[in-house]
Amino acid sequence: MTFLLLLGLLATSISSVTAQTWTNCNPLNVTCAPDPALGTNATFNFTSSLDDKVWNITNGAIDYSSQGAQFSVAKRLDSPTVQSNFYIFGGIVESHVKAAPGRGIVSSVVLQSDDLDEIDWEWVGYDTNHVQSNYYSKGVATYGLAEFHEVSPSATDGFHNYTTYWTHEKLEWWIDGQLQRTLTYDNASNGTTFPQTPMNIRLGIWPAGDPKNPKGTIEWAGGEVNYEDGPYNMYIQQVRVHDFSSGKEYKYTDHTGTWESIETVQGNSTIEKEINKPPAESVSQKWSKLPSGAKIGIGCAIAGVGASALGLLAFCCIKQRRAGRAEYNMENNKFDTDRTEMSNFQSQWKQGGYQPVHN
Ligand SMILES: *[C@@H]1O[C@H](CO)[C@@H](O)[C@H](O)[C@H]1NC(C)=O
Ligand SMILES: *[C@@H]1O[C@H](CO)[C@@H](O)[C@H](O)[C@H]1NC(C)=O
Ligand SMILES: *[C@@H]1O[C@H](CO)[C@@H](O)[C@H](O)[C@H]1NC(C)=O
Ligand SMILES: *[C@@H]1O[C@H](CO)[C@@H](O)[C@H](O)[C@H]1NC(C)=O
Ligand SMILES: *[C@@H]1O[C@H](CO)[C@@H](O)[C@H](O)[C@H]1NC(C)=O
Ligand SMILES: *[C@@H]1O[C@H](CO)[C@@H](O)[C@H](O)[C@H]1NC(C)=O
Ligand SMILES: *[C@@H]1O[C@H](CO)[C@@H](O)[C@H](O)[C@H]1NC(C)=O
Ligand SMILES: *[C@@H]1O[C@H](CO)[C@@H](O)[C@H](O)[C@H]1NC(C)=O
Repeated sequence: MTFLLLLGLLATSISSVTAQTWTNCNPLNVTCAPDPALGTNATFNFTSSLDDKVWNITNGAIDYSSQGAQFSVAKRLDSPTVQSNFYIFGGIVESHVKAAPGRGIVSSVVLQSDDLDEIDWEWVGYDTNHVQSNYYSKGVATYGLAEFHEVSPSATDGFHNYTTYWTHEKLEWWIDGQLQRTLTYDNASNGTTFPQTPMNIRLGIWPAGDPKNPKGTIEWAGGEVNYEDGPYNMYIQQVRVHDFSSGKEYKYTDHTGTWESIETVQGNSTIEKEINKPPAESVSQKWSKLPSGAKIGIGCAIAGVGASALGLLAFCCIKQRRAGRAEYNMENNKFDTDRTEMSNFQSQWKQGGYQPVHN
């Protein structure tokens, strides 16, 4: 069962839980804006915050650590979700995932198109040794298409490589380099139920076993979530994506939803440009580019500003002790970073002139 099926089953009462599957505009019925293409291949490292021009956090919040992006259900109706702003039209999606354990908790990697074709990986947290593969066509929840695949030694104790390989002819699900399942175009009702329109990528976790969910959903999820035992965490370390088409965007030319009806609009992908943009210059890089006269002037100014900043800081600290620690962290992270950079320059200046870090 996917988000989608749930969406069909449920009214709006728990829409925050099911918000993970939706389409802004369904091209089967109306004319929609074209989908921005990835148009290239890219590996996204999820250990630090994602570029919001490329990945959109559509629900909740994500934490980042050396393990990767952490998707957490800590309380009722938490369901953090990230969605790619780009689409692929045939391609490879390789996700390195440590699924969340726990009855009622579902971790998922979903490819979904605007007309609701869908390709899924779903980890149901009570069953830590398996992952389910599934697919949908035009939003039709055809029962019995889910298959279970063993993950050894455990899907929830370590990271595994879950790869989807998708062309107009076939769809494959791979785990750690082993082919698990193949769906050919012909075998999907002679192509009519084969997922075939441009898809974006949705990563998330959700409490399918929330007591307010329909009975069938809770059963599928292995029972009700025990929120007391949380938080339940899924981690995604990295995602490699290869778009087999190249171009600027993908456009539905009619309302059939067949792959032949999709036009690849030629041009440069804006997402590709965003991915390949040079990293922002650090303060020290900017500094090393300055002529030496400017450095002397700035150094003197920093010395002056530094002295008054220290006074200001002392004042802030006293004041902030009365406010909560959490509030302090939130409000002053930015100031602290700036201050640290500034005093680094100051001490380097005092130790006989600034030496550029990068030569
Ligand atoms: C599209 O239109 C059909 C009928 O023309 C309707 O049955 C269907 O619900 C519509 N789908 C969406 C997503 O609006
Ligand atoms: C990804 O794309 C780049 C640039 O087009 C290319 O150099 C590289 O070989 C590609 N990598 C893979 C794995 O396809
Ligand atoms: C991701 O980034 C972290 C921190 O920069 C680095 O340690 C790690 O090796 C990177 N992972 C990959 C797969 O590149
Ligand atoms: C990102 O997600 C939010 C919430 O769903 C949505 O309002 C916004 O339009 C999205 N942004 C993009 C660029 O898709
Ligand atoms: C992940 O699996 C895919 C499919 O077998 C494979 O092509 C890819 O090289 C694997 N990635 C890593 C990092 O091993
Ligand atoms: C296609 O489906 C038939 C019947 O369901 C099955 O016997 C056959 O192995 C399938 N072929 C492929 C290539 O998956
Ligand atoms: C499958 O589709 C092809 C081409 O669209 C058609 O010629 C063929 O008759 C179809 N086969 C069945 C069993 O419907
Ligand atoms: C696409 O980018 C290339 C190189 O970056 C440039 O030469 C070309 O003019 C661009 N094409 C369009 C349609 O903008």
